[in-house]
Amino acid sequence: MTKPQTFLALNWKMNKTPSESIKWAEELLGQLDDLNIKLAIMAPSVSLAGLSGVLGDSQVGLGAQDISQHASGAYTGEVSAAMLKDLGVKYAVVGHSERREYHFESDAVVAAKAVQAIKNGIVPIVCVGEKLPEREKGEHVSYTLAQLRGSLAGVELQSADDLVVAYEPVWAIGTGKTATAQDAEELCAAIRGVLKELYPQFADQIVVQYGGSVKPDNISEICSQPNVNGALVGGASLLVNGVTGLVDGL
Ligand code: G3P
Repeated sequence: MTKPQTFLALNWKMNKTPSESIKWAEELLGQLDDLNIKLAIMAPSVSLAGLSGVLGDSQVGLGAQDISQHASGAYTGEVSAAMLKDLGVKYAVVGHSERREYHFESDAVVAAKAVQAIKNGIVPIVCVGEKLPEREKGEHVSYTLAQLRGSLAGVELQSADDLVVAYEPVWAIGTGKTATAQDAEELCAAIRGVLKELYPQFADQIVVQYGGSVKPDNISEICSQPNVNGALVGGASLLVNGVTGLVDGL
């Protein structure tokens, strides 16, 4: 199986003001050589317009951290897929464990968000992953795969490029505890198994990322696993030299 192109997605979470984002992106673009991977910034929604102006058609794509499950209308505070598309947004994280935990997003809501994204030509990065208790009970595979099936219910693809899945074990997020490369491969391979059932013609080429304390010194081992096609990175993505370190580490 030829692996899909490695995709490094930077999830800034709730960090950086709009003006800090612009300065940061200008600095990054000035430091990047020609990339042979996909790279994109998942920015807070208030920073997307400014970043869109700076990133334009550069080799760094633009992504949102969330997207509404609704197309338009009376949903105060929500941002629709069409609005994001209009700004040049190419990706949207959906179902991040922080949204599931603090905003009570169910698998059905996550699936509805993924559907909205794809309808509008935005690639959803669908996040799944177990918490510590499931891991300790040895139920991490079944838990994560059930979450994946629920989060992809009704999600139809026209090509492998329409979807990205990110496996993020919650116990490894922001904790400095990285899953081993073998842990990442175990789940990413199992995720690909479900993708093969759901999307047999595309599964081999769908990007499956690992996320959770990825750093310049562990990214290479993790991403060289057969079923890991990149990373979704939080903390290490906040500094420009963190990102150049990640790119160089690959
Ligand atoms: O979405 C990325 C994330 O949750 C991982 O965060 O800080 O552990 O790299 P971090």
